Amino acid sequence: MSTAPAIVAADPIDLAVIGGTGLYRIAELENVETHQPPTRYGALSGPIRVGMLAGRRVAFLARHGEGHSVPPHKVNYRANLSALQALGARRVIALNTVGGITERFGPRVLACPDQLIDYTWGRISTFCEEEGTEVLHVDFSDPYTPSLRTALLAAARAADVPVVAEGCYGATQGPRLETRAEIARLRRDGCDLVGMTGMPEAGLARELGLEYASLAIVANWAAGCGDESEITLQEVLDNVAAVSASIPAILRRFLTP
Ligand code: HPA
Repeated sequence: MSTAPAIVAADPIDLAVIGGTGLYRIAELENVETHQPPTRYGALSGPIRVGMLAGRRVAFLARHGEGHSVPPHKVNYRANLSALQALGARRVIALNTVGGITERFGPRVLACPDQLIDYTWGRISTFCEEEGTEVLHVDFSDPYTPSLRTALLAAARAADVPVVAEGCYGATQGPRLETRAEIARLRRDGCDLVGMTGMPEAGLARELGLEYASLAIVANWAAGCGDESEITLQEVLDNVAAVSASIPAILRRFLTP
């Protein structure tokens, strides 16, 4: 497996966290500095907040911007990841707000998916876009870094936070939610979870040689699943808030195993 040329690193960052819908900051970060470096790929979603958690240096970036102004198909995934790498990050935990499709993935479940299927279209999904860049065919059999998943799951166990330790994430285009028929198709394909930001982020992280894993927060039953009630933004935000309260405890254990 070859990777894209590394950008020169600054002070090392022990962990980078990318927050999704409903997750715009980590309140527990201390001594926070703000970085918003320009990148050759354009502007980031917003500022990167670098601070201390459990005595370690952690970078946090809100994927949709801190005021949730960037929709999933407009996120500059390349800029976000290359800026985190340039700041010295080597490991990324992506927080993804998702809908649940199969039985074990109801609202307020936290899951650590091990597979994904990409249904997105028209997004820049590679660093090999520019003429003259080396063409990479990275191994993506396991889209989430197995050793990072193992460490994350161990941290969740140590923090006493239940996490479903598998699941297939279907990445859809959004920003609208899916039809019942679309979700039925995802279910037939083997997806357990559906979200709009899992790709191209995971693939780009692999091209950069970053370790990358996802903690998926189930905010609602996907269309036609579970109790089949209408999906409201309030339900999504309430469920994300309830589950994300447990994330700092997992991160602390992860940083000081
Ligand atoms: N579908 C896609 N993305 C989502 C959903 C959903 O039902 N809920 C939260 N993000």
